[in-house]
Amino acid sequence: MKKRSLWTSPVLYWACFLLLICTSCSDDDEPIDPIDRYEFVVPENFPQPRYTFDNNPVTEEGFELGKELFYDPILSRDGSVSCNNCHIQATAFADSPIHPLSVGVDNRLGIRNAPSLTNMAFFPEFFWDGGVTHLDFVPINAIEAPFEFDETVENVVAKLNAKEKYKRMFRDAFGIEEITLPFALHALSQFTNMMVSANSKYDQYVRNEGASFSVLELEGMEIFQEKCASCHAGELFTDFSYRNNGLDSTFADTGRNQITALESDIGKFRVPSLRNVALTAPYMHNARFSTLKEVLDHYDDGMVHYETIDEIFVAQDGRLGIDLDENDKEAIITFLNTLTDTEFVRDTLFFRN
Ligand code: HEC
Ligand code: HEC
Repeated sequence: MKKRSLWTSPVLYWACFLLLICTSCSDDDEPIDPIDRYEFVVPENFPQPRYTFDNNPVTEEGFELGKELFYDPILSRDGSVSCNNCHIQATAFADSPIHPLSVGVDNRLGIRNAPSLTNMAFFPEFFWDGGVTHLDFVPINAIEAPFEFDETVENVVAKLNAKEKYKRMFRDAFGIEEITLPFALHALSQFTNMMVSANSKYDQYVRNEGASFSVLELEGMEIFQEKCASCHAGELFTDFSYRNNGLDSTFADTGRNQITALESDIGKFRVPSLRNVALTAPYMHNARFSTLKEVLDHYDDGMVHYETIDEIFVAQDGRLGIDLDENDKEAIITFLNTLTDTEFVRDTLFFRN
């Protein structure tokens, strides 16, 4: 997904360089594969990304600038909160469990649980209600929300322009002298776009890379495919639809309805991806459940009726939920644990400089 053509690519030069060196190496020297850590690579088992990389190809300078911004509280009104306050690498860039609902400047409480920023490049829409339709626009929301950064984009741009470090970094990344908002947004997207998580045990299993599943993991995967995968579909474990999974019968937060104003969308929220789900507790838009066991108990017999509840959850006799016995629940949780990508949450590429 790089803008540079193959012939001007540093990778090619490195490859030629190493080839030249290695022709003079002794036979038992392993040839070294040059890996461009800043190249956006689509995992073999993934769909094509939705992000338009042609407009904003990832470069080392752009990514490093995006990282600097991500960890810098300068984006908030009083310099106290950064993106990283609510999106932490150890929890797959979801919030930490001590913040079930996100916490912004002046310790103001948000209304939703901060989602994991896993595989954002593949998402068509953002937020629990799909209220943002392009990744580049997400930070505007974070900057201006009173319970997040409570700042204006004009102030952010002015603060960045006043810093020699940022003047230099924007010049290096984009060749500009005056920092403007679109470039800051592009840099942040370069950073978040690279948060690709595709090396869990599950991935290694489906890509035949030598991982094998236990009997319980296989059983869990089967039950999952039968009972959950109609919504938590495909390799991203979401079909990106908005559904009501029976959490409430009255709604302070009406979800998708806030965007469409349709009554038929009250209580519907985006089907979340389940990648790294074992790390991203608590669960649901309102952080209702602290463990995966509680989530499965909810699917089994905790649902409440509201007219927009998904029809999948309504049986002929009016009973709500998905029938799961204790063994089914254990098997599903065992399977969900295979979606944890420890390499991703420990990847030094994302470490604060
Ligand atoms: C105060 C906590 C907080 C801060 C700070 C914050 N976020 Fe978020 N972020 C959230 C919450 C909560 C949501 C979900 C919002 C919603 O659904 O209404 C979210 C959603 C997102 C999403 C969309 C995820 C998805 O699955 O749709 C992205 C991307 C994102 N944030 C990136 C950022 C970036 C980049 C920054 C810094 C510029 C940032 N966030 C700062 C709490 C925060
Ligand atoms: C009809 C679609 C649908 C089906 C079927 C479904 N889910 Fe969900 N799931 C959702 C929606 C929608 C949410 C988010 C609801 C919210 O936050 O209001 C969700 C949330 C979750 C979460 C919380 C994730 C997070 O990050 O907060 C987990 C875990 C989960 N589902 C697992 C499952 C499992 C396991 C099954 C099968 C037993 C299943 N789901 C079946 C639609 C579905």
